[in-house]
Amino acid sequence: MDSSMKIAVIGAGTMGSGIAQVAAQAGHNVVLFDTRREAVDKALAGLRKTLDKLVEKGKLTTEQADGIHGRITPASDLKELAGSGLVIEAIIEDLVIKQKLFAELEGIVATDAILATNTSSLSVTAIAGKLKHPERMVGLHFFNPAPLLPLVEVVPGLATDAALTTRMMALMQAWGKVPVVCKDTPGFIVNRVARPFYGEAIRIYEEGIADMPTIDAAMKSVGFKMGPFELMDLIGNDINFTVTKTVWEAFFYDPRYKPSFTQQRQVESGRLGRKSGRGYYQYDASGAIVPQTSAGSLAEDPAGHAQAAGSLRTSGDPAEVSNVIIERILAMLINEAADALFWQVASAKDIDLAMTKGVNYPKGLLAWAEEKGAAHWLRVLERLQATYGEDRYRPSPLLRRMAAH
Ligand SMILES: NC(=O)c1ccc[n+]([C@@H]2O[C@H](COP(=O)([O-])OP(=O)(O)OC[C@H]3O[C@@H](n4cnc5c(N)ncnc54)[C@H](O)[C@@H]3O)[C@@H](O)[C@H]2O)c1
Repeated sequence: MDSSMKIAVIGAGTMGSGIAQVAAQAGHNVVLFDTRREAVDKALAGLRKTLDKLVEKGKLTTEQADGIHGRITPASDLKELAGSGLVIEAIIEDLVIKQKLFAELEGIVATDAILATNTSSLSVTAIAGKLKHPERMVGLHFFNPAPLLPLVEVVPGLATDAALTTRMMALMQAWGKVPVVCKDTPGFIVNRVARPFYGEAIRIYEEGIADMPTIDAAMKSVGFKMGPFELMDLIGNDINFTVTKTVWEAFFYDPRYKPSFTQQRQVESGRLGRKSGRGYYQYDASGAIVPQTSAGSLAEDPAGHAQAAGSLRTSGDPAEVSNVIIERILAMLINEAADALFWQVASAKDIDLAMTKGVNYPKGLLAWAEEKGAAHWLRVLERLQATYGEDRYRPSPLLRRMAAH
């Protein structure tokens, strides 16, 4: 498979425009289609600006930038995708609309054309479910921003030809990406394993153990580039809440993934994060956090219960509070990574690669577990389970096995 293969990208929004750039940078001719022609025009104008900046910084020559831009052709009709060898779909996250699109595509592209979906939360198997030839369909899950984040989760559906997965791994490598193979299960690797980073942080806040800036600072002190609340504000609380809810529902309401009222209220109040100027924190026009002193800031904890004298779990000593935050969130993350491995969602190497290359974790979680030993993390979880009596904290069978060795 070489760069002479024509690539089609459907959906010219956040992800489609980034994926089109990645494919064009790898030397492919790309056709970019969206039902809204203005989205394609906006994507191409945005790409021009990005490429100009890269030229200014000396990262690309003018010829290279012109070449990349010139390789992307806008399309106004799905039929223009006819000669494509690989079609990557990045449209609205809706199963019925995606199924309809792929059924239509089957009548347009060649019988040996590969069909890929960038879905984050739907089942690849379900999207391929209505195809005449589901063996040629695969998930290629890029991360936002696609040109910058190296990870791609390659997700075969139940009917996907095994050789296609191997071909896609090679292609993603040729595009300079770090591909990992992942079972078609809810949240794939990253959106499943990362859930406790947000969910457990919110629990700690809701219980009054610490306020949001304290929780963020604690997680940054162990190498995370952003704290959970800062990151949720960046991702968008609407998007983060939807992913949490979708994963929870897809796991048949497993309490480990249960969403929180705190995040729901953020969404209901329109405090979506940076994009709306306010989320857990308030932002100024430049995107910097505005320090809050007045009542009404959630980060400042209007309920006044953060670090309350009666807090169940800590004495309120800052070092102890910080340790509790780190241990609880890390224990839940490590448990989730171990459980993903237990259920054979991916290999240990790929689970660690996914978290470092897709969401910039400072270390792979399974490698991290080894530093203090699995027995330590098992004890943390067992203590939490005993304290709360909740299935949410149940240790993975694999964590138990790791601890026994
Ligand atoms: N945003 C992320 O962080 C992210 C990350 C990974 C994967 N994804 C997935 O990528 C996909 C796209 O997400 P996005 O954030 O880029 O969305 P977006 O809203 O930015 O863009 C979607 C685009 O698809 C177009 N579209 C909708 N229906 C269409 C159709 N039937 N045919 C052609 N075009 C159509 C819309 O006009 C829009 O321009 C979703 O499946 C999402 O789950 C998103």
